[in-house]
Amino acid sequence: MTSAKIVFLPGDGIGPEVTGVARALLERVCTDAGVTLETEDCLFGGAAIDQSGTALPPATLKACRAADAVFLGAVGGPKWDGGPERPEAGLLGIRKALGLFANLRPVALQPGTEHLSPLRAERVKGADLLIVRELTGGLYFGDKAEGEETASDLCVYTREEVERVARVAFEAARGRKGRVTSIDKANVLATSRLWRKAVIALRDKEYPDIELDHVLVDAAAMKLIQAPADFDVILTENLFGDILSDEASVIAGSIGLLGSASLGGEGPGLFEPIHGSAPDIAGQDKANPLGAAASAALLLRHGLKLEDPAQRIESAIRGVLADGETTPDIGGSLGCRAVGEALLKRL
Ligand code: NAD
Ligand code: IPM
Ligand code: MN
Repeated sequence: MTSAKIVFLPGDGIGPEVTGVARALLERVCTDAGVTLETEDCLFGGAAIDQSGTALPPATLKACRAADAVFLGAVGGPKWDGGPERPEAGLLGIRKALGLFANLRPVALQPGTEHLSPLRAERVKGADLLIVRELTGGLYFGDKAEGEETASDLCVYTREEVERVARVAFEAARGRKGRVTSIDKANVLATSRLWRKAVIALRDKEYPDIELDHVLVDAAAMKLIQAPADFDVILTENLFGDILSDEASVIAGSIGLLGSASLGGEGPGLFEPIHGSAPDIAGQDKANPLGAAASAALLLRHGLKLEDPAQRIESAIRGVLADGETTPDIGGSLGCRAVGEALLKRL
């Protein structure tokens, strides 16, 4: 690849702050790799509602479709509560429009950084897991009814929706320890029973080399922080994956550390830190940009197929973590911008 187009959706709250760090890293490593980067910033989320009345303006979606990869900061905030449209609707809309059914959320604790986790070092030591979250189905996208006295969200999954995301998890496991833990609520939910049957059938048919087990989501929430190193690939549906990934961020130390890749469509993938717009620290240069930096590395690896530049960023992240050049959420005293500069220096 000699040239690439990235669309940036800085969004709201700390979104623009962490996007600035990701952008600088991407520009530097692409230049060094001889890749000409064309970039475009588009309105998205609350910022787009303010300027154009809708969270995902048609022009933004058009630009994203024409890009090789999309980087998103974060959207949302109390300012838009109770308004006609929520910023989060834009995020759900773009995931659906781009067909991004698989969300990869890696959680790896760097050896020697066990002290960053509020969990005991001996518990988190060796944790290295990948959450594969289904992203365009389930409760998020089923029919909704919202009345004053009654409301409902329909949870629907088809076998095909389960199979395609399970395939992503099985393929990922082949490049790792070869183990998939599928997390569901099959003791209560019909969708979970279909999920489990479809996952087992696919494993038996196409992935007999992969070790598969099933854990109910409530027990999984416990095991995830009790013995995180026991997991390799976690495969789960949309809502469970959302909740478990925020929980899993505590293993590494902070929600500000985790990046993600949303993949699956014919077109570009979307790369974003798992955290939100953090209104409580927005505008104070306190946001941890390492999750955004990790997302930039995932963008290079999965979106642009540039493995070496991805590894350069990941190595810089390990460096600042090892030396404590970090933000207050993991005990450091640097601001978001200073961590960005420290990363650039290490490239
Ligand atoms: P949040 O992730 O924004 O914040 C939760 C807590 O983690 C806060 O205390 C925050 O300060 C802290 N935090 C988050 N990111 C951090 C970072 N990079 N560095 C340091 N600390 C960080 O979750 P929330 O407060 O529940 O949600 C705020 C808004 O963000 C809501 O509108 C929500 O819908 C939205 N949201 C958006 C996304 C997204 O755009 N992908 C993801 C999650 C939440
Ligand atoms: C995430 C967020 C989103 C989700 C919200 C903002 C719609 O929490 O990306 O994890 O629930 O998927
Ligand atoms: Mn979330």
